[in-house]
Amino acid sequence: MHSSKVTVYNTGRRSLLFLLLQCTQFAFSGKMKIVEEPNTFGLNNPLSGQVNRLQPKVPPSPVSGPAHLHSLSGKCFSYIESTYKYEFCPFHNITQHEQTFRWNAYSGILGIWQEWEIVNNTFLAMWMREGDSCGSKSRQTKVILSCGVSSKLAQVSEPSTCVYSLTFETPLVCHPHSLLVYPTLSEKLQKEWDEAEQARYEELITEQGYNNLLKDIFEEAGFLKTQRVTEKKDASNPTKKFESLEKCNEGFQKQKEEIERLQALLTQHNIPHEKQPAEKPQSPVNVAPAMVSQNSHLRGDTGLLSDLV
Ligand SMILES: *[C@@H]1O[C@H](CO)[C@@H](O)[C@H](O)[C@H]1NC(C)=O
Ligand SMILES: *[C@@H]1O[C@H](CO)[C@@H](O)[C@H](O)[C@H]1NC(C)=O
Repeated sequence: MHSSKVTVYNTGRRSLLFLLLQCTQFAFSGKMKIVEEPNTFGLNNPLSGQVNRLQPKVPPSPVSGPAHLHSLSGKCFSYIESTYKYEFCPFHNITQHEQTFRWNAYSGILGIWQEWEIVNNTFLAMWMREGDSCGSKSRQTKVILSCGVSSKLAQVSEPSTCVYSLTFETPLVCHPHSLLVYPTLSEKLQKEWDEAEQARYEELITEQGYNNLLKDIFEEAGFLKTQRVTEKKDASNPTKKFESLEKCNEGFQKQKEEIERLQALLTQHNIPHEKQPAEKPQSPVNVAPAMVSQNSHLRGDTGLLSDLV
């Protein structure tokens, strides 16, 4: 008479829990004591081979950087150090799995592929961020690329709390030019870089301004995560007349904000933009000289005074 239908939930844990509850219900109907605890029913156990508990917070960034490294996408490399196994999937993620048979062995995401670290115009490391929470922050991992005879993870450390550092050795980065940024750029971005280089040479921009220009180029190429908020384009015809004073004020405010934004951008790039002689030299205001009439006495009662004497 118990034709129980087992619902398959999206997480194995819940379907297991459901099953268990169903079973225990039959076994000790009414006598069951439910103990509240974060039971994972061994799903984290490396032996069970299940990692579906790991829920990435963000999708990985698109594959980018040197073309000869793109073949690493879809592959995974593991490395065991002491009681942990690390699994690095280039351009995807990095995870950590405690090697123990305990029922609640730890398994977690140390980062999802986000962006490159570029130093001295060379790809240096892959940043995997937005991993599992660590207090108010997220775990993150820097995977440093280094030349080696075969592709493998080599070292792991935690330079600061929940920030991990691993070295990935591969023959793909042994050629001295294999990690240069410039050759990976489009013609347009290479031209922009050339111009920035020229401007720096001619001292038209500061070192900081030059670095900001490069950062913009790297962001546009998709090597760095963009911090800027992408603005939605206003589709309405900009030459359209305003229907009301309110609309006009609104439009004015928008333009003002846009100008401020652009000025901030120029300042950021150290491009001088101060309004040249914006204000004309102030023409002296013609203050009407106080009319002190010498004849004011005419209206007084001077006559009386003289009369008194
Ligand atoms: C990590 O990336 C690999 C390779 O793409 C993928 O199979 C796996 O599901 C990912 N794991 C997580 C937790 O995102
Ligand atoms: C930067 O790269 C150039 C050329 O690859 C090299 O000559 C120079 O020593 C590097 N500088 C630093 C600080 O690494």
